[in-house]
Amino acid sequence: MKVLLIGSGGREHALAWKIVQSPLCEKLYCAPGNAGIAKSAECVSLDASDHNAVISFCRYKNIGFVVVGPEAPLVAGLVDDLEEAGIDAFGPSAYAAQLEGSKGFTKDLCAEFNIPTAAYKRFTDADSAKDFLNEMSLPVVVKADGLAAGKGVIIAESREDAEAGIDACFEGSFGEAGHEVVIEEFLVGEEASLFALCDGQTALMLGTAQDHKRVGDGDTGPNTGGMGAYSPAPVMTQEMIDRTMSEIIVPTLAGMHSRGAPFRGILYAGLMITEKGPELIEYNVRFGDPECQVLMLRLKSDILTLMQAASRGSMLEVEAAWHEDPALTIVMASKGYPGSYEKGTEINGVTEAEANGAIVFHAGTSEKDGQLLATGGRVLNVTARGKTVSDAQKAAYSAVSQINWDNGFCRTDIGWRAIERES
Ligand code: AMP
Ligand code: GLY
Repeated sequence: MKVLLIGSGGREHALAWKIVQSPLCEKLYCAPGNAGIAKSAECVSLDASDHNAVISFCRYKNIGFVVVGPEAPLVAGLVDDLEEAGIDAFGPSAYAAQLEGSKGFTKDLCAEFNIPTAAYKRFTDADSAKDFLNEMSLPVVVKADGLAAGKGVIIAESREDAEAGIDACFEGSFGEAGHEVVIEEFLVGEEASLFALCDGQTALMLGTAQDHKRVGDGDTGPNTGGMGAYSPAPVMTQEMIDRTMSEIIVPTLAGMHSRGAPFRGILYAGLMITEKGPELIEYNVRFGDPECQVLMLRLKSDILTLMQAASRGSMLEVEAAWHEDPALTIVMASKGYPGSYEKGTEINGVTEAEANGAIVFHAGTSEKDGQLLATGGRVLNVTARGKTVSDAQKAAYSAVSQINWDNGFCRTDIGWRAIERES
């Protein structure tokens, strides 16, 4: 079977790396891909927002299965259009992708199906939103409803900050995403995520992970797309996993089914483990980046068999086997990220970094005349397994030390929470 993968990040490199190991994969194409993905796949310059172009390509190349990595094409209905054209694809419909595309949609689903989450209210004008602040204690969370690349969440410590956040949303700071605002209670606890593979009726727990969202050591500085991750997350004990599945994931699938929009694909639950147990912060409808990198390093089973079962509704017939050892990934980013940064800087030493078993997944890279160049904010994901998170961390940082990139940086404490628990 020929497979087309959509995306260009570290998540897609990890998926490409895993997909080409599948006996079902005869050839992999990736649109648009990056310099690392080019080692596993033929990269093609297809515009994923042009659904007709993607469909024509699939017909021309006789593609048997399309895997969509990022959220934007899912929310835009790429999977709906592919399926209507008779092409099998992995990922939710546009309607089901609202679980990520609209925070208000998800909060209403939680309210209707009794799924634990922060108390909230939705607003379409600034005055009523500000009035509602009278009923909330501080800190309070202000969120733009739509997709805002992780930037549409304001944790306001003061009433002034909350009002400024509300104004920013309605004045267009987050574009279309801010036309509606959700105000919610601030949850206290430890964050973790859980990934479930869903076929519309049945969910298979894939794994848990913890990300490092802030740019600086000690979880300081601005938010990023994620500076490193490990899996599993020690805070997700078997009891917390079971409760998350039964109190959050299963009712979500049932709720989506009863709305006539069964959820197929990856359900990524962003959780706060509070005193009461797991509560949903948000859903994403795709693998996390960089969480996918650690999950793929731990997965023993064939990813295509699992993804096809999810898209065909035969989840009950498959199982996933895992390496027990934890995996950890360190994101190397261009200096200046998540602000502005220089592009086209030279990177060397990736082969040396992989010499002892670590794997370097690429995100924003390209190759010119045989030289690897950084072209994005997040650039490399140096990933390793170990007997413990401490061992995986040592192996990954040892690989990082082989990489020669003057314009790059990484956090030096990826894994700290888990390592604190281990010692
Ligand atoms: P989100 O984009 O919804 O994942 O939010 C980004 C980050 O904001 C989350 O990873 C949390 O760290 C934080 N956050 C969002 N909502 C809440 C909440 N209700 N209580 C506490 N922290 C939150
Ligand atoms: N690492 C966070 C995300 O993928 O949304």
